[in-house]
Amino acid sequence: MTKSDNVIVVKGLKKSYGQNEVLKGVNFTVKRGSMLALLGPNGAGKTTTVRILSTLLAYDSGSVQVEDYDAHQEADKVRRVIGLTGQSAAVDELLTGRENLVMMGQLYRLTKNSAAARAQELLEEFDLVDAADRPAKTYSGGMRRRLDLAVSLIASPPIIFLDEPTTGLDPRSRIAMWDIIKSLMAGGTTILLTTQYLEEADQLADQIVVIDGGKVIAEGTAKELKSKVGKDRLELLFKAEKHYTAACELLSKAIVDSNDKEHSLTLIINDTNKDVKDVLEKLSDKNIPVESIVVHKPTLDDVFLSLTGKQTQTAKVEEQ
Ligand SMILES: Nc1ncnc2c1ncn2[C@@H]1O[C@H](COP(=O)(O)OP(=O)(O)OP(=O)(O)O)[C@@H](O)[C@H]1O
Ligand SMILES: [Mg+2]
Repeated sequence: MTKSDNVIVVKGLKKSYGQNEVLKGVNFTVKRGSMLALLGPNGAGKTTTVRILSTLLAYDSGSVQVEDYDAHQEADKVRRVIGLTGQSAAVDELLTGRENLVMMGQLYRLTKNSAAARAQELLEEFDLVDAADRPAKTYSGGMRRRLDLAVSLIASPPIIFLDEPTTGLDPRSRIAMWDIIKSLMAGGTTILLTTQYLEEADQLADQIVVIDGGKVIAEGTAKELKSKVGKDRLELLFKAEKHYTAACELLSKAIVDSNDKEHSLTLIINDTNKDVKDVLEKLSDKNIPVESIVVHKPTLDDVFLSLTGKQTQTAKVEEQ
């Protein structure tokens, strides 16, 4: 039997805790070898979804298939093909990094020797060799997240769930984690990642599903989601006040924002190449020199804000 292209298929997934309906009919699919980012604010239902998919939690109705196995009826088979890095650390604090890895390897029925060999491989890959024989309680937050991910990869699963793998990491550790995740993707692993960081979804995911209040409120590629919410904005900056004032008069109709102190104004543009050229020509015809121009593309932050009405934590990560 050939394996289907859709590795994860979630249909009409519902889950309540008492009166609290946490998932209200969630649908999505994840294609083989791709990454889907589940994006949503606190309490949206991300962890609940991941816990159901990884068979740790029962659901009320709908269906969840992982690699054609039913997450409820065939939980054992699902467990054999997945790895999970949960939102809260699952490593044993008293054991060393290496011991954690070997122990998990043996739980997955690797022999002692192959567990040790795989542990060494992962310690090297995750830059944990120097700390390998220290108890995990002495690790920094970033090292702990790396160990967490390494532990979930011990049995080389083809599907991996990452629940907020970079929350709380500093920008450098976040980029290091992204590199590790990218190398997993390059190796063909299918990944479902949850995050509150839009930039993370933007950088890594093939497909984004935005959930809020237990419902899917939007989905698509980062580009598709961005193009839904807004148009490009052109920001012009002028050195002299008289040039700024003249530009305000000349372009008055199109201006959506202006700052008298900074001598800057913002226009909404439809056809970026043509409109930027037209505006600059207009200014040049009137001998109005421009100090700088910037085109702002809509960001996923704009998408999120317009969809959920909520501001998110934005990961301020330096350009790679
Ligand atoms: N064991 C539980 N018992 C009762 N309610 C729960 C339980 N676990 C989660 N919830 C509730 O379910 C809702 C969704 O929680 P979930 O942990 O899935 O959100 P999340 O999207 O992962 O949020 P965060 O970004 O904060 O991790 C929340 O309202 C939460 O209070
Ligand atoms: Mg969560």
